[in-house]
Amino acid sequence: MSNLMARSVVDRTSEKLELFGKIKELAAKKNAVILTHIYQRLEVQRVADFVGDSLMLSKMAQTTNADLIVFCGVHFMAETAKLLSPEKKVLLPDIQSGCPMADMINVDDLKNFKAKYPGAPVVCYVNSSAAVKAESDICCTSTNAIDVVRSLESKDIIFVPDKGLGEWVQYNVPEKKINIYDGFCPTHWQITASEVDKQRIDNPDACIVAHPECDPEVWKRADFVGSTSAIYKFIEESVGKRFIILSEQGLVARIQADFPEKDIFTVFPLPLCPNMKYHSLENLYDAIDQEFTEITIPTDILVKAKATIDRMIEVSDRKKLWTGPVANAYFS
Ligand code: 13P
Ligand code: SF4
Repeated sequence: MSNLMARSVVDRTSEKLELFGKIKELAAKKNAVILTHIYQRLEVQRVADFVGDSLMLSKMAQTTNADLIVFCGVHFMAETAKLLSPEKKVLLPDIQSGCPMADMINVDDLKNFKAKYPGAPVVCYVNSSAAVKAESDICCTSTNAIDVVRSLESKDIIFVPDKGLGEWVQYNVPEKKINIYDGFCPTHWQITASEVDKQRIDNPDACIVAHPECDPEVWKRADFVGSTSAIYKFIEESVGKRFIILSEQGLVARIQADFPEKDIFTVFPLPLCPNMKYHSLENLYDAIDQEFTEITIPTDILVKAKATIDRMIEVSDRKKLWTGPVANAYFS
């Protein structure tokens, strides 16, 4: 590296450290809590009070004493925080952070789908708008989807919008008939079965782990299938040394950082959710300072959507589901 390049890396690092300190100071002054999904850039994970998956972050939003919740994730996650803490101000630093899967279903689509299966309760994945949640019976995340479906009396179930997770639930709960909507995650569906087969041949000693949002042809080939927190916990506790993670790059980067003694890699091309990468230290500071973009939900939708999420939390609490990684210990 030339002297000039080395200097610019040092300058950039000290700028980041300064900004990191300013964000922490401002957040403390405003009694703000920073909740960050594990798919965010590592620098945004580092500055967070809590890093985790969508279930864990929902729980944090429900229990925090902060006045301001700053959500570094996608829109439906910030909306979920607002549903669980309606009296608090919830901010999404970059409003462009949407979820294409959540956008694949709106209320009219759901009503039309429901009309095909009269009487079947609707389980909606948390990756959906507040309006869709309000039109559903119970919510789920990838951590608790199987338990949520099992908790319902009806044999016939409607599951929206994710067909990858829906098929995973059907596989695990064969006694029910799951009527699955045709939504999917473009990032996870970028991973192909043929690439997984190639990795298996090239790395016979590696354990393949997959998020259930992947194409079923992909997760069927994995040694372990689980949500973000389940993947994290599985690798943390496993005596194995080599893992191929079939999920988003942010999770891969975080696991690599937390377990440097393990050989962690993913497939090519890198599964990256561009919507998760809009937040940066720069716009996070501005968002806390100027309090943008505030998430608002009309009261009628809020009341119904909150009930849908509360029912899910009740099932999760009953099952005592693990919701880590909770504390941002690695980076503190
Ligand atoms: P988790 O529920 O595992 O955090 O997943 C959220 C998500 O959007 C995955 O793509
Ligand atoms: Fe949505 Fe997929 Fe991005 Fe998750 S990874 S936020 S499901 S597009």
